[in-house]
Amino acid sequence: MIDLRSDTVTKPSPEMLEYMMKAEVGDDVYGEDPSISALQEHAAKLFGKEAALFCPSGTMCNQIAIRIHTRPQDEVICDKRAHIYLYEGGGMMANSMVSVKLLDGDHGRITAEQVLDNINPDDPHFPRTSLIALENTSNKGGGSIYPLAQIESIKRVADEHGLALHLDGARAMNAVVGSDYSAEEMGQHFDTISLCLSKGLGAPVGSVLIGTKKHIKEALRVRKMMGGGMRQAGYLAAAGLYALKNNIERLKDDHRRATNLSYGLTKLDWVDELMPVQTNIVVFHPRQDLVSSERVFEYLKEKGIAVSRFGKGYIRMVTHLQLTDEDIRHVLSELDNI
Ligand SMILES: Cc1ncc(COP(=O)(O)O)c(C=O)c1O
Repeated sequence: MIDLRSDTVTKPSPEMLEYMMKAEVGDDVYGEDPSISALQEHAAKLFGKEAALFCPSGTMCNQIAIRIHTRPQDEVICDKRAHIYLYEGGGMMANSMVSVKLLDGDHGRITAEQVLDNINPDDPHFPRTSLIALENTSNKGGGSIYPLAQIESIKRVADEHGLALHLDGARAMNAVVGSDYSAEEMGQHFDTISLCLSKGLGAPVGSVLIGTKKHIKEALRVRKMMGGGMRQAGYLAAAGLYALKNNIERLKDDHRRATNLSYGLTKLDWVDELMPVQTNIVVFHPRQDLVSSERVFEYLKEKGIAVSRFGKGYIRMVTHLQLTDEDIRHVLSELDNI
């Protein structure tokens, strides 16, 4: 099967597995797992930050971040397509008791002006705005990348109004590889960053929450409460460290393959809306008068190609490290047969 459902479907390579098996481990709840400590240090340094915390998932990193930056009754500003709003099971409300102000950005990217217009006045009728959360790249926005200047101006607004700024950087390294800025240049603008190791980077499990020592100390307390303290998880952290050391530059291959896919789609008369492709995510909508999304989905499934339903008839295809150029050619030829 050619699996284009998500970049989360990859399995560890033999080299990654070997690195994992050699990991030195200890009880991390006592702070004694050298492999976890090494991963945390490496991830923090990559983004120019002081500290990091290894967590089981990106969702947990985001939820911890929201919790440490807000108090009950506060409000979080984010795009209406944000993962923290759409796909984290209502966690913001349940874990942090906050409300959310949803903005309609450009493919998931909001602007400083939009943020400014949506900060609530200091009046007890309104929830207190305390956090802005950006997603880079934006999953629901089709893998779109924030320009650095846009992040900088949002940071200025955040500073002027005393708001925290969090990055859902599940695919932050895709943004870095697909842009002209470094992780550190982006990182300096955020109070906290969550980075997934188990997406394009190819580790089987895990994410890191990155920030100041003070934020990470608080985050440790919340992670414990959420049941995310793990013991000899250094085997998993080793996979993450291997991924950060070996799998960043190769994200360019995923981006090139996604661009090839989208280029092929532009030539098909039954493809209607195709989101601009900047990284490893391709989202499109078939022309419903010619073929239904369900038919496309089923046809590809019959041909051994798995894609995702992405809401309202959209289809998502995501490239990742277990796909080859030949797979992409094959997918394109099957799409051509529809
Ligand atoms: C943008 C974004 N943020 C957060 C997550 C959550 O990651 P996890 O599945 O590890 O909880 C995902 C997962 O797909 C994602 O796409």
